Amino acid sequence: MTFTVTVQPSGRSFSVERDEPILQAAIRQGVGLPYGCKDGACGSCKSRLLEGRVIHGAHQHKALSVEEEDAGFTLTCCAAAQTDVVIEARTVPGAGEFPVRKMPSRVMTITRAAPDVAIVKMQLPANDPLRYRAGQYVEFILRDGSRRSYSMANAPHTQGDKPWVELHIRHMAGGKFTDHVFTAMKEKDILRMEGPFGSFFLREDSDKPMILLASGTGFAPIKAIIEHMQFKGITRPAVLYWGCRSKADLYLSGWAEQAAAEMPHLRYVPVLSEPRPEDDWVGRTGLVHQAVMADFPDLSGHQVYACGAPIMVESAQRDFIEQCCLPKDDFVADAFTSEADKHGD
Ligand SMILES: Cc1cc2nc3c(=O)[nH]c(=O)nc-3n(C[C@H](O)[C@H](O)[C@H](O)COP(=O)(O)OP(=O)(O)OC[C@H]3O[C@@H](n4cnc5c(N)ncnc54)[C@H](O)[C@@H]3O)c2cc1C
Ligand code: FES
Repeated sequence: MTFTVTVQPSGRSFSVERDEPILQAAIRQGVGLPYGCKDGACGSCKSRLLEGRVIHGAHQHKALSVEEEDAGFTLTCCAAAQTDVVIEARTVPGAGEFPVRKMPSRVMTITRAAPDVAIVKMQLPANDPLRYRAGQYVEFILRDGSRRSYSMANAPHTQGDKPWVELHIRHMAGGKFTDHVFTAMKEKDILRMEGPFGSFFLREDSDKPMILLASGTGFAPIKAIIEHMQFKGITRPAVLYWGCRSKADLYLSGWAEQAAAEMPHLRYVPVLSEPRPEDDWVGRTGLVHQAVMADFPDLSGHQVYACGAPIMVESAQRDFIEQCCLPKDDFVADAFTSEADKHGD
């Protein structure tokens, strides 16, 4: 049995199978809805249910509270339509533009860039290059069928005729995939991958000045976006804030400094939350999103791209909107949710 989902205000409609999550049907049919984790943990897909009935699968309370559910909100990634439905959601032009496909990938290089960060380059099939937008992510499909997401750190144009993607992978102790990456994974290993996914990429129809906000390996998709801006000659003013614990965690600070030197409209502000004495740090300290608020108490004319730890993304979204007048549609984010976040409520 299939139902029709209509998205307002765009009026775009698509079909959904009875027990299929609405977002999955949208991705399958190339309809660009906003989303991040696809798993009920981040809240990026939150939309208002205007008409019809859905059944909600398991999700995190922080992604959709009981009050929000009562007020008619739904998470499209875990809501299955039981009737034709009408939802209110921003459509994201370009989110469904490139086909999602499964492919084998081969480990080209693994470089330890910081004590707990590996830069992994994966070779992709040459005959059918992966097309994606700078900022999007791929998923590794593990042997047991579970999946782990990683954002491309290189912009698509860097691929050349031997397609490859660069991923920045942070070790989470006890983590199923990253324990493997930091112990057993070696060059030439083959991993199954699917992508591209995600709605975290530059909204090129806007000319607002931007805050690019990263914590930890959240720097990866921001790096791809900066490479894309440089390649396309996009000169919107942008300030990159990169927050890490200590200096060693700013694993590509030299790259960011170089980009800022080459791009007059880009500024780079590294922020450390726990600098060590040996860091000799004279730069900014504290929480990275608070550094943004100190510099930009009024964000009403800005667009923010935030990526990394869920706590940073949630705090930035709440505080920028509530305290700095950022329009809510100008907050674009990918929260790096993990199994810990999915079982945390
Ligand atoms: C859209 C998106 C993009 C992402 N991009 C990146 C990226 O570019 N770089 C990056 O480093 N990460 C990224 N992530 C995070 C990444 O997908 C993984 O979640 C992360 O690497 C951890 O994977 P893992 O298998 O090692 O750990 P997991 O097995 O997911 O475990 C994570 C942590 O939770 C604990 N844990 C496991 N199961 C449970 C449970 N049931 N209850 C409580 N705790 C539990 C583990 O001990 C571990 O500490 C992204 C996530 C999303 C959603
Ligand atoms: S995409 Fe639905 S909660 Fe993350």
